[in-house]
Amino acid sequence: MDGLEYLKKDHDRFRQLFRHAENAKDINEKWRIFRIIKQELDLHAQAEEAVLYPSFRNAEGFSEIIADSYDEHQEMKDLMEEMTREKNENDFEDDLDELIESALDHVEDEETELFPKVRNLVSEAELEVLGRKLEEAKKSDLTKQAA
Ligand SMILES: [Fe+2]
Repeated sequence: MDGLEYLKKDHDRFRQLFRHAENAKDINEKWRIFRIIKQELDLHAQAEEAVLYPSFRNAEGFSEIIADSYDEHQEMKDLMEEMTREKNENDFEDDLDELIESALDHVEDEETELFPKVRNLVSEAELEVLGRKLEEAKKSDLTKQAA
């Protein structure tokens, strides 16, 4: 699959999960959905950082946008780590709102700025290779987690 389509599918899945989290009927349900979001967001970010970002960070006109992407990933990862230890319900809910807002901004930026730049630069065949590498990056990480 075209690597950018592959990532877009992930993004759509996050949008769906965020809607579920926002509509959750109680705090336990929010926690349950947050754990799924954290697992999938960590995996998605790792695949992007292992495959997508290194492939383009040195390409002309990409350095700033990719540096920003790394920073945004780090902020989301830090926030999610903090949330796993959060005891106060209201603080957890505020953090969840903040996480959803930053993640939505981030995927929006990728889809409107980074992905079109990548699509301009590389061929359809290269996008297919990118897609396979992204899939592999996720799988290898799953086996690591299971080990
Ligand atoms: Fe992404």
